[in-house]
Amino acid sequence: MKQLKVILGKRSYPISIGSNIIQKDDIFWPLKPGNQAMLVTNKTLANLLKDKVLYHLRKSGIKIDQVILSDGEQYKTLNEMELIISALLEKKHTRDTTLIALGGGVIGDLTGFAASVYQRGVAFIQIPTTLLAQVDASVGGKTAVNHLLGKNMIGSFWQPASVIIDIDCLKTLPQKELVSGIAEVIKYAIVFDEKFYSWLEENIENILSLDHEIMSYCIKKCCELKSKIISLDERENNFRALLNLGHTYGHAIETHAGYGNWLHGEAISVGIVMAARTSKILGYLKETDFKRIITLLKRTGLPVKGPKNMSAASYIPYMMRDKKVISGEIRLVLPLSIGKSEIYNHVDKNIILTAIKESQ
Ligand code: NAD
Ligand code: GLY
Repeated sequence: MKQLKVILGKRSYPISIGSNIIQKDDIFWPLKPGNQAMLVTNKTLANLLKDKVLYHLRKSGIKIDQVILSDGEQYKTLNEMELIISALLEKKHTRDTTLIALGGGVIGDLTGFAASVYQRGVAFIQIPTTLLAQVDASVGGKTAVNHLLGKNMIGSFWQPASVIIDIDCLKTLPQKELVSGIAEVIKYAIVFDEKFYSWLEENIENILSLDHEIMSYCIKKCCELKSKIISLDERENNFRALLNLGHTYGHAIETHAGYGNWLHGEAISVGIVMAARTSKILGYLKETDFKRIITLLKRTGLPVKGPKNMSAASYIPYMMRDKKVISGEIRLVLPLSIGKSEIYNHVDKNIILTAIKESQ
């Protein structure tokens, strides 16, 4: 088992990565025998992993209840969050309870948000079961639910007490979901690390076939990159925003298409292409780097073109509601080269529109 740490003073926490680690002694730290906890999962994971996790929680002496939510991005809502709160109240959970999120980014975001508001804040543990949640969503304490007008518009920063990443979970993950998660992996490499990008180019087939060593390295690398950023800029006052490469466009696609119709990673893939094209038009990103980005996304099986029925102009209102907007100005993360990105404030709207049109 490998362990990393997100350093945030008293709120620092471990990320444990390994195979079948759910059965290791003390893995549910800081939970101790006799502690109360609520497992939050969805109907899909209830059939796959819930019983195994419950068995080991009970074996560790934890008093565990459970709540099972519907599966899908369209259920990342205030309504579903309230179901978690109701379950906590019905089962008389007090302020020293711990919520445990077992699932992908949707369950992680919902559970984290519920933990941040239940009785003004209780602890929670992340057990991410998709690649996307293992490399990104479970680390860093962003929690949220969607609003019909915008993705992740209601939420909080609330760090988990621990992140438990069991690579074996990925064996049951549908291929489309694995591919979606790789979009966030490629994002890290474009933003921060050219060497990692070259490694991905060499190893993408091994990632797609879930080679154990390769996956282990890949997940650890992404968690290392993310934990460093979180330790330096927890609340996105500065360069944490770089982790949003592709998201300003991608969230527009997800919201416009109706939540769940485009997978998050698929929308982010197209968003990365749009950001890269914007940068190329502005003369920052070289054609050779642009082509490398398109090639890797395509080899992964990710889309590189936006939805046909979404006009370029219709992206703008969603982009204007992006959380990075300041004083009515869209702020974009643009790749300058593979391994280096920056945040730009005053990009001409016509250039943004041209980049979107050329990516349709
Ligand atoms: P998801 O949570 O919807 O999971 C994808 C699908 O895979 C679901 O149907 C789920 O039930 C199923 N699944 C999960 N684990 C499985 C397993 N081991 N075997 C079989 N099926 C499994 O989607 P996701 O891609 O994990 O997460 C996307 C969400 O994460 C979005 O809402 C996005 O906004 C959010 N997100 C949050 C952050 C953050 O920092 N908080 C970062 C990135 C993304
Ligand atoms: N996924 C972007 C972030 O956590 O900041």
